[in-house]
Amino acid sequence: MFPEHRPRRLRRNAAIRSMLRETKVTTDDIIYPVFIKEGKSIKEPIEQMPDQFRYSPDNLGRIAKDIVSLGIPAVVLFGIPAKKDSLGTQSHNKDGVIQNATRAIKDAAPDLFIITDVCMCEYTDHGHCGVLDEKGYIINDDTLEILAQIAVSHAKAGCDMVAPSDMMDGRVGIIRDALDDSGFDDIPILSYAVKYASSFYGPFRQAAGTTIAFGDRKTHQMDPANVREALREARLDIDEGADILMVKPAMPYLDVLRVIADEFEEPLCAYQVSGEYAMIKAAGMNGWLDEDAVVMESITSIKRAGADLIITYFAPKIAQLLR
Ligand code: PBG
Repeated sequence: MFPEHRPRRLRRNAAIRSMLRETKVTTDDIIYPVFIKEGKSIKEPIEQMPDQFRYSPDNLGRIAKDIVSLGIPAVVLFGIPAKKDSLGTQSHNKDGVIQNATRAIKDAAPDLFIITDVCMCEYTDHGHCGVLDEKGYIINDDTLEILAQIAVSHAKAGCDMVAPSDMMDGRVGIIRDALDDSGFDDIPILSYAVKYASSFYGPFRQAAGTTIAFGDRKTHQMDPANVREALREARLDIDEGADILMVKPAMPYLDVLRVIADEFEEPLCAYQVSGEYAMIKAAGMNGWLDEDAVVMESITSIKRAGADLIITYFAPKIAQLLR
């Protein structure tokens, strides 16, 4: 035998293949995103995301217990308020949808780690992630004040970590200060440091009702063509106090994940977004792809590229497949 045949010899047997596997996905790596709609007894299917639902806070106790029993350690919560206005005031209402949901989950499943999305877009009637000037541009600094209030209100409701997702300049720093000043210096920040202005968010916007009335998010989210800019964004967020960095979306940006993982010591999270979910799901439902196999391959690839944590709508499926 020639020496170059050695790799093949090590692939012949399933046990040794598994022993030598370099990247292993476990349920400890995954975070499940949950959509919560203000109201009562709601379990609404999301059309563009088959098997995903919008739940009202009163339905969350049972869901939270199911998630825990699957071994999934954490959820990230997205809120859909009953009333929207230009300043997104429901976002920091102490009895708002996320605040109520957080309390409901903590009552039913105290050990489930709750991450809350901190962004205005779900709460504004125009669908933008901030306060707008008369020309329709986001006013960065006015928006920061509201983001800080949202984060503190989530912490008061009992969340374990906040995740600012809007990409405003300076949001991590102002949220850190606000949390510290309110006695929540132990609440970490998962920062969407590297968030691209991606078309893969389409189904999420339908799910959360955040399709914007005019304009786009290109003024604050990153150009898909850029990677050096990702380093700069990550560095700024670390300097402001981010505890965990995130790259989003995941699969189209595996190279970015790798660069960030190599450059920074901070823990790294990747978000397999709604459009990635919808693509795999649609192909699976049509019988065009083996859904289970593709899900595990995609998650393994995201981890191999450098993610420590992965937010994915496939979390329950992955937990079942790993059993
Ligand atoms: C903003 C937010 C978005 C997503 C997560 N947080 C939408 C956006 O930036 O328009 C998208 C996630 C997904 O597509 O699954 N609150």
